[in-house]
Amino acid sequence: MWKSRLFTPGPTAVPDEVLLEMARPLIHHRTPQFRKLLKEAFEGLKYVFQTGQDVMILTSSGTGAMEAAVANLLSPGDHCLVVEGGKFGERFRELAQAYGAAVKTIPVEWGRSVSAGAIEAALKSDPAVKVVFTTLCETSTGAHLDLKAIGAAVRQHPETLLVVDAISSLGAVECRMDEWGVDALISASQKAFMLPPGLAFIALSPKAWKAVEAARSPRYYFDLSAYRQTLAKEDTPYTPALTLVIGLVRVLRMMKEEGLENVWRRHRILAEATREAMRALGLKLLAEHPSDGLTAVLLPEGLDAEAMVKALRDQSGITFAGGQGKLKGRIFRIAHMGWVDGFEVLEAIAAVEIQLARLGYGLTPGAGVAAAEKVLLSAGG
Ligand SMILES: Cc1ncc(COP(=O)(O)O)c(C=O)c1O
Repeated sequence: MWKSRLFTPGPTAVPDEVLLEMARPLIHHRTPQFRKLLKEAFEGLKYVFQTGQDVMILTSSGTGAMEAAVANLLSPGDHCLVVEGGKFGERFRELAQAYGAAVKTIPVEWGRSVSAGAIEAALKSDPAVKVVFTTLCETSTGAHLDLKAIGAAVRQHPETLLVVDAISSLGAVECRMDEWGVDALISASQKAFMLPPGLAFIALSPKAWKAVEAARSPRYYFDLSAYRQTLAKEDTPYTPALTLVIGLVRVLRMMKEEGLENVWRRHRILAEATREAMRALGLKLLAEHPSDGLTAVLLPEGLDAEAMVKALRDQSGITFAGGQGKLKGRIFRIAHMGWVDGFEVLEAIAAVEIQLARLGYGLTPGAGVAAAEKVLLSAGG
């Protein structure tokens, strides 16, 4: 019987105290008790989103909030721009196409990050673009983008909105919605928020709320105006996933207690330790600008990453993620987001070393762990 260790970029491990909190007998959602919790959740989310705007909690996976952004901000025929450098950029394109928008893409080689200049050039060539869709961390490649610079570029276009999928990065990396000029920020429960899947979050800027009133795409369950009206009464339009909301309140308290800047710093150190370890093992990272939430590692020709992930999962209870789409078999991904500390990262690195050695890859046992320890020690961890 193996102990299960989850190092996937969603779902991630849920803290014991949160699991226990969610195991308590259920309460009803139209009660003062639940409204109090909901109010606390809304306030805590504002802190993590770094926004003064309302953050809405949707009962869906992250894709639901992506769909809500498309359905509420675009009308059929509207021009939009999608940064497509992996699976999740692709998803925004497919969603916008499904709603009848006129979609242009900025294709980005998988593993690279779009520059603010490329977005600026695309907006100049089509000033009718109403919405720019981006992914803060493209989870399929581990690539992170410079959102501050992109926000500054889009802000030069007063008619254009910036929508950001931060599903695998909010609560792990620095992201300041209001300060950086993000018009719609999206996240979900099962990544750095340390919860099971089932909740999606979305906040809109005042400029985006104006666009919601003008947009004519059909919507019902994800009608954000309706949501906003009930939110004013500290309520949700439909039955919320209240067990998860109860867990969310607990998680937000943990994040507040640690302090958001410290949360970002912890992720930065864990990411750096993982990256240094992979380099010490002679492995290449896929992303040019890697995210601090996960590390995508390329395996040399002849080594099958899928087989490595499967063997570790089935033989040792350690779960990494493999590659998606065209990266299947070529990369494996180690998540270090959410409820993770330095010792767990060392475990993950040791597991990589052991499995690679089993596959016949030449390495010095402990080289990766030693490199990671150095980073952790120098960071005071
Ligand atoms: C960046 C990103 N966007 C979107 C999604 C889709 O989210 P969900 O599977 O919760 O619908 C994911 C999930 O892995 C993601 O990492």
